Amino acid sequence: MSREDSRGLSLSVTVVAGGCPGARTNMTMEAACREACGTAAAKGMYQLCIDTLREEDTTAGSVDEAGEYAYHAAWRALWAYLDTMGRAWHFLGDAARLAGEEKAAYEFCVGGRYQEAEAAMDRVRNRLPDHCGPNVGDEYKMALRDVGACRDRVAKLPSSPLLAMVEVDYNRTLLASMLGKLIGVK
Ligand SMILES: *[C@@H]1O[C@H](CO)[C@@H](O)[C@H](O)[C@H]1NC(C)=O
Ligand SMILES: *[C@@H]1O[C@H](CO)[C@@H](O)[C@H](O)[C@H]1NC(C)=O
Repeated sequence: MSREDSRGLSLSVTVVAGGCPGARTNMTMEAACREACGTAAAKGMYQLCIDTLREEDTTAGSVDEAGEYAYHAAWRALWAYLDTMGRAWHFLGDAARLAGEEKAAYEFCVGGRYQEAEAAMDRVRNRLPDHCGPNVGDEYKMALRDVGACRDRVAKLPSSPLLAMVEVDYNRTLLASMLGKLIGVK
């Protein structure tokens, strides 16, 4: 067997092992959000889900593959992280006006945690909608852990204009992982 053959073989095995069983299921965004978020318990998440998916297609009741929804949610979370990092850098650029603990908190977020979360969510985005191996589940967990660590730190400040953004980022990360579960991420 030539080297190319063996490489092709191992690649196709990886794909099969990590395939997303639910990625090609056609469903409305309302059904996807209902299944991913549950109903009454997480009304806020359901609304965030609908708002996020409507950015792609504003037609209520339109149908798409569940894998596309999961992909879009990951992409949207990533975009939100970049936005938040831009804002935090902006505050850090005006360091003279920042209290020491505020400066330390923002540096903790953009200098580390958000970069880690961004890298993790970027790996998710690169693998979806066709790769659902356990490694993808780990990447969602890493992003949740890192954004959550930033949120907890910022929440301890007396007040912060960044907190609202970081809290939404956490929910966006959670939503992305819920839509990942919907298509079969473990
Ligand atoms: C989902 O819809 C698309 C476009 O209509 C179609 O090509 C595809 O085969 C459908 N997938 C399934 C699993 O029915
Ligand atoms: C995040 O989601 C939770 C659960 O739905 C909700 O209670 C909370 O208000 C949300 N936070 C933000 C900032 O949207």
